[in-house]
Amino acid sequence: MSKDKRINTDQSYQDMFAGVIGQQYELLKKICPLATEMSRLVGEQVKYYAGTKQHGLNVLELGGGTGITTLSILLADDDLSVLTVDNEPAMQQQAKESLLKWSTAGRLEFSATDALTALQGLETDSFDLMASAYTLHNFEHSYRKQVYQQVYRVLKPGGQFINGDRYALDDISAHTHQTQLEIADYFRVLKELNKLDVLEHWIIHLFNDESENHIMRESLAIAQLEQAGFSNIKLTDRQQVNALLIADKVMEIN
Ligand SMILES: C[S@@+](CC[C@H](N)C(=O)[O-])C[C@H]1O[C@@H](n2cnc3c(N)ncnc32)[C@H](O)[C@@H]1O
Repeated sequence: MSKDKRINTDQSYQDMFAGVIGQQYELLKKICPLATEMSRLVGEQVKYYAGTKQHGLNVLELGGGTGITTLSILLADDDLSVLTVDNEPAMQQQAKESLLKWSTAGRLEFSATDALTALQGLETDSFDLMASAYTLHNFEHSYRKQVYQQVYRVLKPGGQFINGDRYALDDISAHTHQTQLEIADYFRVLKELNKLDVLEHWIIHLFNDESENHIMRESLAIAQLEQAGFSNIKLTDRQQVNALLIADKVMEIN
């Protein structure tokens, strides 16, 4: 399948995001279209889950950044509310400005602490969903493992973990090949845009993502989620080194 066919190219969807988020969305879409696609898939899954419930959802988002995934979640259902966590003030400030309409309406709250600290301060069984994109792969393994344990604790029984992210292939050679293709794309796009500073930033960041203590390999992610207590773990919509991961906190039947 060609790259364009795998990615949502619906013009009204793209225009709306560009309108609310602005240049940040346009640039990310050019540099890494699969990152914006993961946010769209997260929104779709939130919408699907919301359709199975009779009440408004309480959603926790980790790593809201400039608000691309947050917007996708907010648009999934009119009755849901979001607590979005990000410990990078410059990123979060952009989301606060772009998504003012939703925070004014009482549907969006911001937390500026790091994900684990924020989770540790939340009540047990208090959220219907944890929905996130392109954030968890940034975490170091032991930190991510603690985040999974905390997410499991704060989700209500019947709640769901939804994450669209970089999930490294278990086949290391295939993963390296895909990453090389990705790097070639960064060079092609960013040289054309004459943004060599952004190119440098992305390459440096990629070394972090691919490092031994960070790389979020598919099988390790699934094993860590199982250890935390999650069931029905599904990795879907794989597109190169990206995929959507869904896992349930099942209701206990006594
Ligand atoms: C690549 S951005 C993704 C933003 C957005 N979800 C999207 O897909 O466009 C990752 C975000 O996670 C945030 N982040 C990284 N580590 C974090 C942590 N430990 N706690 C909270 N936020 C974190 C970063 O500040 C950044 O805004």
